[in-house]
Amino acid sequence: VGTPDLAGPTRRRAQAVSFGPAADTYDAVRPAYPPSCVEWLFAPLGPGRWRMADVGAGTGILTRSLVECGYDVVAVEPDELMRAALAARTPGAEVRPGSAEDLPLADGELDAVVAAQAYHWFDQHRANAEFRRVVRPGGLAGAVWNLRDETVDWVAEYTRIVDADRTADSGSGGLDTETVTSFGDGFAPVEAAEFRHEVTHTPDTLVELMRSRSYYLAASPARRAVLEAELRDLARTHPALAGRERFPLPYLTRAFRAVRR
Ligand SMILES: C[S@@+](CC[C@H](N)C(=O)[O-])C[C@H]1O[C@@H](n2cnc3c(N)ncnc32)[C@H](O)[C@@H]1O
Repeated sequence: VGTPDLAGPTRRRAQAVSFGPAADTYDAVRPAYPPSCVEWLFAPLGPGRWRMADVGAGTGILTRSLVECGYDVVAVEPDELMRAALAARTPGAEVRPGSAEDLPLADGELDAVVAAQAYHWFDQHRANAEFRRVVRPGGLAGAVWNLRDETVDWVAEYTRIVDADRTADSGSGGLDTETVTSFGDGFAPVEAAEFRHEVTHTPDTLVELMRSRSYYLAASPARRAVLEAELRDLARTHPALAGRERFPLPYLTRAFRAVRR
């Protein structure tokens, strides 16, 4: 582990698939998506046992919500360790190796395709073409991100520490990579919505949250130690956190959807 010398696109590719070794941490501390958001994403389909792919499904944080909604879900994930964590924790979902740019699905097979905290990692031109191929007319494409609410002062400080190089992965707050303007010609104009929720943290789980991030995972041991020390210091000294065993971390969930023409 530790790829601090890689530059530009090479480093980005390495970061895109860097999560595997931290799969358990990732699953334990990353936030789920609010039920109201999941409901909004698929509302245009109406009720039904729709067949959908969760692309870049990771450890299955969104996949489990989709299964609970009664959908027929194929989880597509390129990283073997993330896939193993997902399979162990997500009964009811079918798990397939694959990428957004080369989906292991037949033409028109799906009612919907969705990516959680993942669409910014894709080659979007190729992913959109694949979404168009696998989703039937009248079906849906969706993307969703949990972003930390940076208007809260200590949350902005947390981001300053963990996003030191402003590298996007998730919840990076204020980065315009976490948006969708179009799913390509195959889809109608994108609709967007936002949802708010909170997750309770302790100083220790805040450190775990950082340990699940691509920037941390790609950093050298020395850099990791600096990041951890800065974060412990924040939890110990910031007026909103000092002396508190538990505190809420507020999230803004951004969701995007478009109907297949
Ligand atoms: C930040 S994680 C999100 C995981 C999960 N969807 C969630 O909401 O917790 C991003 C995931 O996208 C996967 N990924 C990266 N590049 C990908 C690609 N080109 N196609 C599909 N998945 C990809 C990574 O392996 C990782 O599991």
